[in-house]
Amino acid sequence: MRFDILTLFPGLFAGVFAESIVRRAIDAGQVSVNLHNIRDYATDKHHVTDDTPYGGGGMVMKPDPIVYAVEDVLGADLVRRQKETVNVEVPVILLTPAGRLFTQAMAHEFEHYGHILMICGRYEGIDERVNELVVTHEISIGDYVLSGGEIPAMVIVEAVTRLVPGVLGDMRAMVEDSHAHGLLEYPHYTRPAEFRGLRVPDILVSGHHAQVERRRREQALRRTLERRPDMLENAQLSPADLRFLASLKGESDQSD
Ligand code: ADE
Repeated sequence: MRFDILTLFPGLFAGVFAESIVRRAIDAGQVSVNLHNIRDYATDKHHVTDDTPYGGGGMVMKPDPIVYAVEDVLGADLVRRQKETVNVEVPVILLTPAGRLFTQAMAHEFEHYGHILMICGRYEGIDERVNELVVTHEISIGDYVLSGGEIPAMVIVEAVTRLVPGVLGDMRAMVEDSHAHGLLEYPHYTRPAEFRGLRVPDILVSGHHAQVERRRREQALRRTLERRPDMLENAQLSPADLRFLASLKGESDQSD
């Protein structure tokens, strides 16, 4: 998996990519991350990358350095080809709070491409012609405003890297992760069996496999109903799941 990241602040990425899972994936040759400084593509003497907007307001990133950078990294032919057809070869992703919300499904989609490029916006925004000329996806990581797309780009690198085959040694961890199956994850316990008077649930200690699985499933359903009821609409639910959810809703109706 190859990531190209266009940013005005490449130094921000050093810590995140120097440790833990992304670092291991880079060291193992499973992932490569290439940082490109947008400033290097400014053509004027002072390497200016932003300017005042037509119509007034805060500073806006100029289109030319960003477009030159994308064309340099991916090749102008590829960039033009995938804007002219619907066939995307390398997603060119603009990180912006005005984009579509990033999801686990998108992380899978990006991993399948094998190569993505991300543009980190700064200031008030980016000249709209960047979208028209090179961008294939506008993505937001949540309904809040950050000062730039750098942290969102790190989030996407991390989420996609975890999906690259071989990066997570334990495939089960990946399969059962929150969101992978459309439900939030069940709570976890390890030793000691009792801590500060709080005991690990008996079923888990019992080692009875089928009961453990059923309890985990019910805990995941309960959590999802409480915290993210919107996710239940798209989750794959068995008849037993539906009965359990109905019993939970019955409980809450009685306490109302
Ligand atoms: N840039 C600023 N805020 C952002 C967000 N929430 N997602 C993606 N890019 C951003």
